[in-house]
Amino acid sequence: MKLRTMLMLANGISIAIILVFLIISYVRMVLSPEVILTLTVITVGAGSLSMLAHFFFTSQILKSVNQMTEETSRIADGNFDVTIREKGPQEIQELAQHFNSMSEKLNRMFSELKRSEEYKTELIANVSHDLRTPVSSIRSFAEALQDGVVTDEKTQRLYLETIERETERLSHLIEELLTLSQLESGTSVYDPEWVHPDVILVETLQQFDRRIQERDIELSVHIDDKLGVIPMMPDQIKRVLTNLIQNAIVFSPDHSTITISLKKRETEAVFFIKDQGSGIPEAEVDRIFDRFYRVEKSRNTKFGGSGLGLAISRQLIELHGGKLGVESSVGEGSEFWFMLPLEIKEE
Ligand SMILES: Nc1ncnc2c1ncn2[C@@H]1O[C@H](COP(=O)(O)OP(=O)(O)O)[C@@H](O)[C@H]1O
Ligand SMILES: [Mg+2]
Repeated sequence: MKLRTMLMLANGISIAIILVFLIISYVRMVLSPEVILTLTVITVGAGSLSMLAHFFFTSQILKSVNQMTEETSRIADGNFDVTIREKGPQEIQELAQHFNSMSEKLNRMFSELKRSEEYKTELIANVSHDLRTPVSSIRSFAEALQDGVVTDEKTQRLYLETIERETERLSHLIEELLTLSQLESGTSVYDPEWVHPDVILVETLQQFDRRIQERDIELSVHIDDKLGVIPMMPDQIKRVLTNLIQNAIVFSPDHSTITISLKKRETEAVFFIKDQGSGIPEAEVDRIFDRFYRVEKSRNTKFGGSGLGLAISRQLIELHGGKLGVESSVGEGSEFWFMLPLEIKEE
């Protein structure tokens, strides 16, 4: 039975009881006929008014309840973006508030789930793409060599060199993926030693000597002499520095300057790597730390690798209890920085 019918019925029953009482009084002659007539008119009048009031008040409740029913069926169809109006009697308003906060939570949870699902799909697509390219290149060069299509020694050597280069790229990518998954799963251990950061910097810079000379890039290094030993895992910090300096070189024009500074602050040591390169568009600054994210969508290997370098670097710095970030403006260049605490991070 509908809510409105129930309420109307209850109202009708109470009027009927009074009327029955009046009829009995009339039959038994307890009251005079004038009084009975007056009471009957009053009862019928009051009854009709009360019916009208019931009708009016229940419309409010019914409207909210109907809306809730409709919205619930939309939720059941997988549409979580629903809100209902918080109007009507207090209980209905409270119910509507609870309903709205529930649908908001559901909506948020559902979007997060969808995002992480999309993220996973994208990740798999990127990994597959980046693995397939070197593999197919290795395969085609190996086949060409096997088929005996190339006979001259110079071309053969060239093919073999390409195979070697692609194999290196492949193993580098696999190694990066493994490192990243280890860092993200939280299984990497923080096991610092007390090291002079300038020693690490100088050791890292050595590997870039030739490239810097070839490109006529000037290297300007400033080290705060108040900086003593700091706790770090030297190989990991070298890895971060290598990635940042390599990026700076790749994105710098020839004959420009890369400035590297090391500063001591109250509770941290800060490394700055500044270039005069292309800079990063503001909208993409946060995204470059995402796995596989590269500003150049072509995935041209001339500009760096697979887009995992910064994601790994950020994780490594966070493992040390530090932070890594960037200030950049298009056309002027970028300044990457990372800070390491001067004391060993508390677990
Ligand atoms: N110094 C820089 N100047 C301009 N863009 C940069 C710089 N460093 C990083 N980027 C942008 O961030 C992206 C991600 O960098 P990274 O994670 O090191 O990946 P990769 O070097 O493999 O491309 C780069 O592809 C590039 O678009
Ligand atoms: Mg890089």
